Amino acid sequence: MPRHFLTGAELSRDELLALLDRAIELRADRLGSDALAGRSVGLIFQKPSTRTRLSFEAGVFELGGHPLILRPDEMQMGRGEPLRDTALILSRHVQAVGIRTHDDAIIEELARYATISVFNMLTAGHHPCQALADLVTLRETFGDLGGLVLTYVGDGNNVARSLAILGGIAGLEVRVASPPGYALEPIAGARLFEDPVAAVRDARAVYTDVWVSMGDEATAEERRRALAAYRVDDALLDRAAPDAIALHDLPAHVGEEITAEVLYGDRQRIWDQAENRRHAQKALLELLLR
Ligand code: CP
Repeated sequence: MPRHFLTGAELSRDELLALLDRAIELRADRLGSDALAGRSVGLIFQKPSTRTRLSFEAGVFELGGHPLILRPDEMQMGRGEPLRDTALILSRHVQAVGIRTHDDAIIEELARYATISVFNMLTAGHHPCQALADLVTLRETFGDLGGLVLTYVGDGNNVARSLAILGGIAGLEVRVASPPGYALEPIAGARLFEDPVAAVRDARAVYTDVWVSMGDEATAEERRRALAAYRVDDALLDRAAPDAIALHDLPAHVGEEITAEVLYGDRQRIWDQAENRRHAQKALLELLLR
């Protein structure tokens, strides 16, 4: 049976911690490995992407493999070929496939019919590859992750959910502070807050994400009003632990969820976090295709 990576919950704590350490090793050794030599990886993008596309395409290449960028409007899938048939064909030509798509039901169907590994490059419900990079960034900044407090401030969306799931597996205390109507559902191990100041107390990492995600454009103004008190600025960071870092999965909207002082300031690890997408995903591919 192929190993899939759909939500992150597929990993044990030992596997996750080993993956984070392997990612840090890969970052130090920029030559990578030949884990994918002679093998191809399909990357299906049904939504726009900068970081995910760059990091996967470059990462597969650095592992000696061939990345195939697949856009549904250039495939028969975009003309109605069933996902089941697409999964069966992909399985005959490539060794793994990632998909960035809408509903989680789509990636679940792909995984049901594929005989190769399927991994999640973002769905409406989850963004587990992002959470891997976030944990790599925390691991290289702080070392031991056990009991470390990470506070996510903002919309309880796919990024928050993946942080709660994978952070919980890694042993973090994940807190999610959101206004009424935008809260994450209860997830084992995650603590939900309404007050962002209370939520960041003792936090070593303060994390934010866009207020208007892809697909939420129709409710943009409503979201900006509801989330206005959840901006990550220097004043909020001052209420966290003295060595707290700021994280953001990007793209950022300066003046909305984050200030320019934080995004480009001394306390952020956001640009390392973005680079760590590549290293984390290389370690993930090594694990899935071992
Ligand atoms: N963080 C993230 O997934 O970025 P992209 O949308 O640019 O891939």
